[in-house]
This record gives sequence, structure tokens and C-alpha cells, in this order.
Amino acid sequence: MDTEKFRNGAAYVGGKFVPFSEAAISVADWGFTRSDAVYDVVHVDDYRFFRLKDHVERFEASMKKRRIDVGLSTQEIEVVLHRVVALSGLSSAYVAMVALRGRPRVVGSRRPEDCTNHLVAYAVPWVDVISKEMQETGATLWISEHPRVPDASVDPAVKNYQWSDLTSALFEAHDHGYETAVLCDAEGFVTEGPGFNVFVVKEGRLVTPDRGALPGITRKTILELCAELGVPHSIGPVSRSDLQSADEVFISSSAGGVMPVRQVSDGGALPGSGGTVFRSIREAYWSAHKRPLFSTPVEAVQA
Ligand SMILES: Cc1ncc(COP(=O)(O)O)c(C=O)c1O
Repeated sequence: MDTEKFRNGAAYVGGKFVPFSEAAISVADWGFTRSDAVYDVVHVDDYRFFRLKDHVERFEASMKKRRIDVGLSTQEIEVVLHRVVALSGLSSAYVAMVALRGRPRVVGSRRPEDCTNHLVAYAVPWVDVISKEMQETGATLWISEHPRVPDASVDPAVKNYQWSDLTSALFEAHDHGYETAVLCDAEGFVTEGPGFNVFVVKEGRLVTPDRGALPGITRKTILELCAELGVPHSIGPVSRSDLQSADEVFISSSAGGVMPVRQVSDGGALPGSGGTVFRSIREAYWSAHKRPLFSTPVEAVQA
């Protein structure tokens, strides 16, 4: 195999491994026409997956809830993920697994049961949800006027491509000169942002929203680290004013880890990366990457 052409990006699609630039799906795929797909993203750092089992477990739970079955076992999915990273040769990679509804086997069918579900996976060079500079200075966070889609309509625990509210909020943030956005639900409680969970710290106590948010693997890691570090923490309601009057605010995503916020719209000054709780959690988060329990070396497995 000519491995050179896989450098800087390798994909698995239609049961084959191809260079990322050649990876394509049909325009008739419901994953494309209806956003009928679920996905997950795992970080590879220094040729090691971070919390691979957790990501694959969440991916399988998303598939189950959406009644998508790609016909592969957990181990087979993991083999595909190892292989795309190994082929790409990337030591630091953004590794996506996507389960698509696929195309109907019966021409013109409107029945999801008639579609052949399939797996797409790829490894590309690492991307962060906010720029490296902002990870030092802190991001600016616009509280969007656009409400997050209700949990009862789109289950936020299913990692999905229904991003229209998140994308509208991003445009709104950029129109107001902010880096990124956070959305509230119809009752005005904070949910999450485009690709990240949100945390507020007030008088040493950390809270992350209990609604409208993906149970992030980074969030899970942060909550576990809080327990170890003795930081009082909870998953609970966070109002718009809680966010605006917090002592510290930060965000989390596999795409960037734990990232500081230096300003929230209509809020007071925030310490950004100078926040005490933020600093201890960010340090603990990156140290946790070395724990054998969380770390899976990329294997040059044959698929
Ligand atoms: C909407 C949304 N919320 C939260 C997150 C953070 O989840 P994780 O920490 O598992 O990457 C993501 C990740 O991409 C996301 O897309």
C-alpha cells in the first residue's frame, strides 16, 4: 500500500480505507439529506487515544438511541479507528467516527428501516475549538438570544449534526465581536456552546449545566478531577445571571481540553487563564492523559 497518500488524513468509508481527500458519501445518503447521523470525536495526543473506550461507548449509545446499526462490533469499530490514525501517521489527531442512516435499498422509500446504515471514520490533523492564543488569554463568550433546541425534541446526549441553533448562535457571537457563544434553553438556563460544555465557579464551587448539554467526556474527566482535587462540584441549573456573575468561567471539549473564558456578554471581568480553579483543573486534565486507564496507544493494526 502507498502509505504516503494517507499522510495528513486517512478515512474509512464504504468498507475501504482511503486518503481523506478522496473520502466521499452519496448525496442520496440520509446522513447528508436529513442530518440523520450520529458521531463522536476522540483525541489522539502523542500517538495515544484519550479515553477511547468512553468515546466508543457514547458513540454506540448514540447509535442505539437513533436506531442506527452499522453492523460492526465494538472491537471492529476500534480497529477501524486505530487503522485510520496509523495510516495517517499523525501523532496528534482529530479522530471522528460517524454512523450514517445511509441510502434506502428500495427506490423512493421514505422508511428509515429501508436504509443501509454505515460507518465512516477519519483521522485528520488536530483542531481546537478555540485558537491557541485564546486558550492562554481566554475566550469571549456571547450569551445567545437563540434558544437551544429542546431536549425533548433532540436528545442532547446523542452526539448529532443538528447544529442549526449552535451555528446561528456562532454567527450572532461573531456579529457582536465575540469569539464563541453559549445557548440558553427556553426558560433561560444555560445549556452548552458549539462543541463544548460550560462551567461556572462561584466562591470555589463549580457547577456545569444539567440540561440541554452533551455529557462531554472532557466534562466527565473534569468532574472526576474535581473529586480528586477536593473542588466542590455539581451538575445543576445555571442561570444566565449565574454565568454573568461567576468568579470563573471555562469551557471544555475533546477539541482543546479545558479552555478559559475572559469575558461573558454583559458580565463582569473574569480572570480567564488566571483563574485558580481553572488552572488546577487544566493542569490535572493534561496530566491525566498519561494515566494508563485513560490512554490507549495507537496500534498499526491490519483491518
Ligand atoms: C455540542 C457539544 N457539546 C459538548 C461537547 C464536548 O464533548 P467532549 O468533551 O466529549 O468532546 C461537544 C464535543 O464536540 C459537542 O459537540
